[in-house]
Amino acid sequence: MILEQNDEDGILRIAVLASGRGSNFEALCRGDTGNGRISLLITDNENADVMRKASELGVEAHYISPGRYRTKFGEAQEAEWTRLMMDRGIELVCLAGLMRIIKGSMLEEFKGRIINIHPSLLPSFPGLHAQKKALDYGVRISGCSVHYVDAGVDTGPIILQKAVHVKDDDTVEMLSGRILQQEHIAYSEAVRFICSGVRPIQDDV
Ligand code: GRF
Repeated sequence: MILEQNDEDGILRIAVLASGRGSNFEALCRGDTGNGRISLLITDNENADVMRKASELGVEAHYISPGRYRTKFGEAQEAEWTRLMMDRGIELVCLAGLMRIIKGSMLEEFKGRIINIHPSLLPSFPGLHAQKKALDYGVRISGCSVHYVDAGVDTGPIILQKAVHVKDDDTVEMLSGRILQQEHIAYSEAVRFICSGVRPIQDDV
């Protein structure tokens, strides 16, 4: 997919949607994303660390209620998130630890332009606790995946992956930490590929 560049300034505006710590948000803001710029953060958690990071990094940030559900958006609320992104001329949406499934107007409006990062080599270990699932299974190589978002959970086409070796004495924390370092590299790289129109490639394991 090649993103249309319809801005006079040649910048592709990117929104990050996040619920928590925000290390991937920060990595995207500080990383080389080519002509993509992180210009908006929206969170469903007012007290999330990612809000503090956005203010430090000078990125426009909003808390918008996600509605009354725990793992998905209310219809009206999802429309509100979508409207704000459209108002700001967002071209690409990066999910970075958003603890909700996107199914409604956002997926419709930004179809093919929403990407996510997941801490496993998909299609293995989708969903929550991916690093623990990888350790419990006993895989020798895990890693992270950046993929397009479709209506499923971590099921969309893969853009890019980074491999991480599992060590004999790994704990979930140790493995998660090494995967996270690769996530930070992978996410900016994937965004750069998409923004420059380069066909994304998949790293060899
Ligand atoms: C990351 O491990 C990401 O892969 C997963 O949620 C976590 C978010 O971490 N989707 P952070 O908030 O970016 O630090």
